[in-house]
Parts: sequence; C-alpha cells; structure tokens
Amino acid sequence: MNKFLNKWFRLIHRWVAIPTALLIPVAVVIKLIGSPETIAFWEKWDKLPSVLMLFMAITGSYLYLLPYIVKAQRKQRNVPARNA
Ligand code: HEM
Repeated sequence: MNKFLNKWFRLIHRWVAIPTALLIPVAVVIKLIGSPETIAFWEKWDKLPSVLMLFMAITGSYLYLLPYIVKAQRKQRNVPARNA
C-alpha cells in the first residue's frame, strides 16, 4: 500500500506541476493586463490554479513526510536503519 502511494503521489506531484507552473503565471498576467473579454472568459477557469495547487500541496506534504514515515515504520519493525 505504501509503495503504491509513494509511486502515485510522486507521479501526480510531478505531472500536475507542469499545468500548475504554466497556469499560475497565465492567471496573473490575465488579471494584470488582460482585456475585459479575456478577464470575463477567465472567470470560468479562475478556480483551476487553486485546485491544482491544492493537489500539489497534498501530494507535496506526503512527499515531505515520507522519510519520517519510513523511519517510524523501520523503528516499529525493529529493523536497523542503514544511516542511523
Ligand atoms: C504546495 C506545496 C508543495 C510542497 C509541500 C512540495 C513538496 C515537495 C517534496 C517534499 C518533494 C520531494 C523532494 C524529494 O524527494 O527530493 C517535491 C518534489 C517536487 N516538486 Fe513539490 N511541493 C509543493 C509544490 C510544488 C509546486 C507548486 C511545484 C511546481 C509547480 C512542484 C514541483 C515539484 C517537482 C517537479 C518535484 C520533483 C518530483 C519528482 O521526484 O519527480 N512542487 N515537492
């Protein structure tokens, strides 16, 4: 289960990073210098960068905690850590 989560959270984090990195600057530029029509069109899509950031934050937090989770599980199983 853990291996499955590690693999998929890292993959999701890696691939969602691309649209996130593209959409956030686009959203800022549209808001700063977009024409009224562009701004009106963008209003429909405005929540998308926030949703992508939410995915990044959730998967990123898991990746951040991963070394500590692995360490705790090793300790529980009483297997000596390689670098401890
Ligand atoms: C929002 C909060 C975020 C947190 C807490 C976070 C955290 C992390 C962590 C802990 C890693 C793993 C580092 C490692 O194992 O060496 C990682 C990898 C990465 N992060 Fe984030 N991140 C966040 C947002 C972002 C954003 C906004 C982007 C880009 C738009 C991004 C792009 C990446 C990429 C490309 C990797 C490498 C993934 C891989 O190993 O294939 N992250 N992040």
